[in-house]
Amino acid sequence: MNIAIIGTGNVGRALGTGWAAAGHTIIFGSRSPDDPAVKELVATTGATSRATTPPNAAREAEVVLIATPWRVTEQVLKTLGSLHGKILIDATNPVGTTVTTADSAAELVNRWAEGARVVKAFNTTGSKNMLEPNYRERALDMFICGDDEAAKQVVDGLAKDLGFSTVDCGPLSNASLLENLAMLWIQLAYSLGNGPDIGFALLRR
Ligand SMILES: NC(=O)c1ccc[n+]([C@@H]2O[C@H](COP(=O)([O-])OP(=O)(O)OC[C@H]3O[C@@H](n4cnc5c(N)ncnc54)[C@H](OP(=O)(O)O)[C@@H]3O)[C@@H](O)[C@H]2O)c1
Repeated sequence: MNIAIIGTGNVGRALGTGWAAAGHTIIFGSRSPDDPAVKELVATTGATSRATTPPNAAREAEVVLIATPWRVTEQVLKTLGSLHGKILIDATNPVGTTVTTADSAAELVNRWAEGARVVKAFNTTGSKNMLEPNYRERALDMFICGDDEAAKQVVDGLAKDLGFSTVDCGPLSNASLLENLAMLWIQLAYSLGNGPDIGFALLRR
């Protein structure tokens, strides 16, 4: 599968590396595709990976991951051109803003990227876990929500490709729950002293 990764930060690097190792073709969409750090990322991600501008990356891919700081996400999405019919994975977290059920980041992304099949995922755990989802007891869960069932199935498969178990969290209107779960992870990891080697899993009796 051709996957465009918009943003070559912590999340873009981790997911790009993991998906390339699982056999996907990664097209990094970067403001600076010729930057030595981006070139090195491409070189270490595998023979089929490449880097280009964000709109070129989005155009060439069936699946687009948005992994940008929240404050620039609207602006970046608007540079991508039409995402109509493409699966758009929203991994952002609206850090530093108030999240309400009526106004989740994912629902805003859904409005900004008209016609895209938006799925919220890869926001509820740290980037280190995205490359190492296996813990002693079991794999971490990736919590996924969205309104397009077929798109959600594709994202479910992409999470499993990395080694996650998955939990279908229903429609996109549940995205604020995932975004608040991410805030809890950030608090636990960085404010309450647990560090980034923690993650969430849903237990079933
Ligand atoms: N860090 C985590 O563990 C984690 C986990 C889950 C979700 N998230 C969420 O995922 C998103 C990305 O997080 P991250 O930690 O990967 O962020 P990051 O390390 O800061 O990387 C974000 C990337 O976005 C791109 N970008 C495009 N326009 C930008 C601008 N105007 N200013 C700055 N960067 C810009 C940059 O890539 P180019 O320079 O290549 O354009 C940058 O490397 C955030 O919304 C975050 O809340 C983070």
